[in-house]
Amino acid sequence: MIATQFVLLTTLLFTFYSASLAFPNIADLVKRQEVEEANSRTGGIPGAVNAPPPPGPPRFKGTKLVHDRAHPWKPLKRGDERGPCPGMNTLASHGYISRDGVASPSEMITAVQEGFNMENKLAIFVTYMAHLMNGNLVTDKLSIGGKTKKTGPNPPAPAHAGGFNVHGTFEGDAGMTRADAFFGDNHSFNQTLFDKFVDFSNRYGDGFYNLTVAGELRFQRLQDSIATNPEFSFKNVRFPTAYAESVFPINFFVDGRKKEKKLDMDSARSFFKDMRFPPDFFRSAMPIGSEGINEVFAMHPFLPGGNVDGKVNNFVVDPTAGDLTKPCVLYDDILNTVKGLYPNPTGLLRRNLIKNLHHFYSGFAAILGEECVEKFPYGQ
Ligand code: HEM
Repeated sequence: MIATQFVLLTTLLFTFYSASLAFPNIADLVKRQEVEEANSRTGGIPGAVNAPPPPGPPRFKGTKLVHDRAHPWKPLKRGDERGPCPGMNTLASHGYISRDGVASPSEMITAVQEGFNMENKLAIFVTYMAHLMNGNLVTDKLSIGGKTKKTGPNPPAPAHAGGFNVHGTFEGDAGMTRADAFFGDNHSFNQTLFDKFVDFSNRYGDGFYNLTVAGELRFQRLQDSIATNPEFSFKNVRFPTAYAESVFPINFFVDGRKKEKKLDMDSARSFFKDMRFPPDFFRSAMPIGSEGINEVFAMHPFLPGGNVDGKVNNFVVDPTAGDLTKPCVLYDDILNTVKGLYPNPTGLLRRNLIKNLHHFYSGFAAILGEECVEKFPYGQ
């Protein structure tokens, strides 16, 4: 009897023990199940994610020290990506996004809000526009510089996930401190152009970059490109981005404690060249975006177009193109670019495209085009 009980007990113990070896504990089991479920939703592609919704505005909206102990500037490491945007370069070099320059749209939006107090809807609009054109929609990663393996496996061509540096999608001609792509390098800091930035600030702003300087320099950079770049193009996405970028140094690079909206040249050099907050830098006193853009445009109104027939000084207006006054043309142009990159998406890629297009539209409509009806090229 005792022997029978003993055998029964040992059998029970053995069964329990071997079961617990096969299934170490319930928490592991649940976790494994969750991963398997997530994988089946993302098609099992490494690094694939279901695109999350963008972050909302932050709770605290005032100025604060952003060059703080938690965000020290660090020099570049091999393989770190940096590109044409001095704002995003600076955020990466201070660790507001990953220092390697690769991040998700949500991380970028959080970073521009936190580090520069960029207004939520503008941050959503601009970031998703960049992501749709230059990011990896399966892994939800975008490079602020060139193409890198860190954004994950290549998307099906003609999509490229090439990062901010790709010319003709977001990045465009007549930048303030970056040369036109025609001249070879469209994304690195260009000292000659920065000297012009300083010269114009001396001539029109008493040594500071302000709205008057912004208007004069924007127009001069357009004239430079007309005169020297046979492939010069300035329309659709490039139109509002160029004018917005002309006011960004005033809205974002001026210390939030200062009353006067004018940027000194040491701070300008620090952001544009060194990708570094000036010492003790405080972000804008309130959430801000493209304020001043209309004043800059009004100083030298300009129509969208480009040089044609491969010749300089051959600027022709394109009456069908988008500019600041035709937001719905701009919206259609952006959708056409996306459709060109993703003619036949399937599975997770298609689902993420639908989500990202909707996030993009929510920012775009709030900033530029409330009257433009949302479109769903890949369904809803
Ligand atoms: C919100 C996400 C942002 C994205 C996706 C983005 C992307 C870009 C890209 C692709 C360019 C190159 C365009 C060109 O050809 O000139 C650019 C330029 C620029 N960005 Fe950003 N940017 C963002 C936020 C910011 C912020 C927060 C600032 C300021 C703090 C900023 C300041 C600038 C400036 C001043 C330029 C023009 C550089 C020049 O012309 O020399 N950007 N940005």
